[in-house]
Amino acid sequence: MNFEFEGNLKKLKAVWYENNEVVMIDQRMLPEKVEFYRAKNSQDIAYSIKEMVVRGAPAIGIAAAWGLAMAKSNHEDMDAATKLIGSTRPTAFDLFKAIKFMISNNFTVEAARRYSQEITNRCRKIGEYGDNLIPHKAKILTHCNAGALAVTEWGTALAPIRIAAHNGKDIFVFVDETRPRLQGSKLTAWELQNEGISHAVIADNAAGHFMHTKQVDLAIVGADRITASGDFANKIGTYEKAVVAHENDVPFFVAAPASTFDFSLNSGDDIPIEERGEEEVLSIAGKRIAPEKSRAMNPAFDVTPAKYVTAFITEYGIFKPNELKSLKSMIQKDMFMRED
Ligand code: MRU
Repeated sequence: MNFEFEGNLKKLKAVWYENNEVVMIDQRMLPEKVEFYRAKNSQDIAYSIKEMVVRGAPAIGIAAAWGLAMAKSNHEDMDAATKLIGSTRPTAFDLFKAIKFMISNNFTVEAARRYSQEITNRCRKIGEYGDNLIPHKAKILTHCNAGALAVTEWGTALAPIRIAAHNGKDIFVFVDETRPRLQGSKLTAWELQNEGISHAVIADNAAGHFMHTKQVDLAIVGADRITASGDFANKIGTYEKAVVAHENDVPFFVAAPASTFDFSLNSGDDIPIEERGEEEVLSIAGKRIAPEKSRAMNPAFDVTPAKYVTAFITEYGIFKPNELKSLKSMIQKDMFMRED
């Protein structure tokens, strides 16, 4: 496995650059098999993002950054490569952040390396700040996968969990299975198992029951795009978890780096929501589960209004939704994140 160790903290790499190829863990194959996908040009990168070989907003951004650097060194038409990669997944803001960063840094390999390293380091800080919110013996709910596979090395929602466990806190994680793609049961549970963190996979429909019966102390999720008002998009099903958390006084945290904040939007209503293929809902593991003539609807994300968010966990610290103005001004002063 491609783990690196820092002390006894395991660091999993999800995407990297090697011999002029972008290499990634093929997340479609987990947890059965660890296989690697090797992208050789911008078409392969677009395929890997669209088909979810690599997924999770920050990891999509990192794959795009490496992909554009590779395209440049392949002497591809950079306008076409940028358009193609930018057309893959509309909700994840990190994709557009990474593309802008690469355009303003001439698509160099060095810029992609910096981008990947910066996002990774920032997620570690998210883990350190978020650890302060996790009491000893906490039972934590998470949705989808916002772990190392979704970023490389730390994750966003899983970074505080990983650091809390590493600091000796006895914690337990409720892992929403996350239909239709099952990122919870396939990916988050795999990451937690690799790290020896206690957890149970629960059916998406069960989260309300566990919150209502006071078995969940807090929830931490990632985000695909966060607006200036604090409304945010994340994996479909996040909205209803947040509403139920609010109803049951369960603190609801959203962990994300600056690259996920889209301050050009104020309302969550303006976030474009990706619609994916019907087959993801109509089948499980390639086997059709619905009648032959039934159709499906498959929005990949939903929007949670800011009023349900207790706080955002970022690399700059913890911010309540009504404190996002001060986060914005910090981001604007941050050389790496600011957009001139
Ligand atoms: O469709 P996916 O698997 O890319 O959706 C991923 C999520 O919704 C994550 O919670 C989000 O991208 C944050 S990942 C650190």
